[in-house]
Amino acid sequence: MIYHVLTLFPEMIQQAVSHSILGRAANSGHISVNCINIRDFAVNKHGQVDDSPYGGGAGMVMMAPPVYDAYQHVLCNIQKNSDALSKPPLIYLSPQGRVLTQKIAEEIALSQEIILLCGHYEGLDERIIEEIVTDEISIGDYVLTGGEPAAIVLMDAVSRLVPGVLGKAESFKDESFSDGILEYPHYTRPPVFRERAVPEVLLSGHHGNIDAWRKAQAVERTRVKRPDLLGEIKGM
Ligand code: ADE
Repeated sequence: MIYHVLTLFPEMIQQAVSHSILGRAANSGHISVNCINIRDFAVNKHGQVDDSPYGGGAGMVMMAPPVYDAYQHVLCNIQKNSDALSKPPLIYLSPQGRVLTQKIAEEIALSQEIILLCGHYEGLDERIIEEIVTDEISIGDYVLTGGEPAAIVLMDAVSRLVPGVLGKAESFKDESFSDGILEYPHYTRPPVFRERAVPEVLLSGHHGNIDAWRKAQAVERTRVKRPDLLGEIKGM
């Protein structure tokens, strides 16, 4: 998966993807993160990329031309490096987008290459959204100071679905949301911790009973913690 991130804060993105599983995925070439600093396409030598809103009001609005030029720069590089004619999806991180879910992450992970656009200040000039954005994604119903943390969340959720990014030991088959419900509880040594014993069945070595127990636990914790998820699954 290739990510092109249009941002005013490339260091934030680079820092976040240089650690742990994402760092390893980048080193092994399973993902690649190309940050484009929108300020490199500023409208003047002062590095201006924002201006006051037409019609008045507080705050500044990110101008359309620097974002458009940064986007064109990405497209030119993509076309130079491949013979693909179609443009990759451009996802604008915004609280007005559809809220990111595991299903949406799976959908995005099907693309080979995506462009992420991070806004700042009061938002983007509406015309750039109309011109280049193909999808708008929010990471939840709250407002961040910029799109960068949201882009990092999206890249994390999507990258771990890219084949080869997770090792066998980190497999996502059993985890929360992979079949629409929460994951069962996990235990490791010691067998007793502050008088809390590991459930007997997990020490039994009986795989059939262990599987049945885990399945029941997963359903029960979903019923208690996230009953809304059960409503979304037919037959539960
Ligand atoms: N930018 C600001 N708030 C955001 C949110 N909740 N999700 C995605 N991008 C954002």
